Amino acid sequence: MLCAVVRAFGDPRQVIGLEEAERPAPGPGEVEIRIRRAAINPSDLIPVTGAYRSRTSLPFVPGFEGVGEITRLGEGVDDLAPGQRVLPIGASGLWQAYLVRPAAWCFAVPDDITDDQAAMAYVNPLTAFRLVDAVKTHFGMAAGQRIGVTAAASAIGRMLLTLLAEASFRPVAVVRSAATAERLAEGFSGEIVIANAPPLDAVLDAVGGEAGNALFRTLHRGGAFVQYGALSGAQLDPALITARREDVAFSFLWLRNWVHSAAHAEIAAEFERSFAGIRAGHLASAIDTVFALSDLPAALARQDDPARAGKLLLAP
Ligand SMILES: NC(=O)c1ccc[n+]([C@@H]2O[C@H](COP(=O)([O-])OP(=O)(O)OC[C@H]3O[C@@H](n4cnc5c(N)ncnc54)[C@H](OP(=O)(O)O)[C@@H]3O)[C@@H](O)[C@H]2O)c1
Repeated sequence: MLCAVVRAFGDPRQVIGLEEAERPAPGPGEVEIRIRRAAINPSDLIPVTGAYRSRTSLPFVPGFEGVGEITRLGEGVDDLAPGQRVLPIGASGLWQAYLVRPAAWCFAVPDDITDDQAAMAYVNPLTAFRLVDAVKTHFGMAAGQRIGVTAAASAIGRMLLTLLAEASFRPVAVVRSAATAERLAEGFSGEIVIANAPPLDAVLDAVGGEAGNALFRTLHRGGAFVQYGALSGAQLDPALITARREDVAFSFLWLRNWVHSAAHAEIAAEFERSFAGIRAGHLASAIDTVFALSDLPAALARQDDPARAGKLLLAP
């Protein structure tokens, strides 16, 4: 079978190779899944650079998100059946034709959800739920408060704008260019600002670096800042966070921490919310291109292309 493999950390376009490998058989409690679609997300590429080298062993197959159908059952698996579509989560490895995962880490996909949307039903929707929940319960923000969302035209940014509005907050979209603002305005009628920070009560930040620092400085006493990404390639300045510790609540949010501590039923319930949002449209993500896995170099080039207008999917 064809698989994408990382054997050394570095620039994803240089170090992710394509190889032929044997199909391993599922062991007790495991299933084999034929991957039908896998997403390319920023969070798939960060470990490739070596940013998390303390918890990433080489070699590895990238890809945290996708959908496939069960092809073989290991001993003792009786709640899944061959042919059933599932989302295998909890570890990377989706950028290959077949994957073996514990059955306990597979979540069934309803028949009315397409492969393309199912392949994007996990990382961004479930993180967006956690972020809005943090704003409500962890930081105790009240209805009507102004919550900034950076990189607001990203797939998750768009979800956050809708979910925050649904939860009676006032989402403020923060983007980096007029072109992005124009694109976002086609589907979002709320406030959009370009880099400049208006008064905000909280910020959900996927950018970090200088842009993140600037937004952090504008928060008033009682404000909250959640960093869940670093698209700029840099974190927030730790000295700044320490200096304002008494005024502004700061936290990181990583979906993997929640997923590895939540019960199976809790995760399944969040998938039901995700599928409902996909049906309703607000959690369906735009797709730019579906590439064959054998075209991975072209897909990785497109991922960095400023003209990309939606997610890239791989068809292994
Ligand atoms: N913490 C978690 O568990 C978790 C889970 C899901 C996602 N995330 C993070 O969420 C972020 C977005 O993910 P996604 O899948 O929604 O991405 P996406 O759909 O690929 O969109 C990324 C967009 O962000 C904008 N962008 C890129 N670099 C930027 C920068 N330096 N400053 C401002 N905007 C920038 C670009 O839009 P323009 O070119 O139009 O400006 C780009 O199209 C990523 O950082 C990802 O790692 C984190």
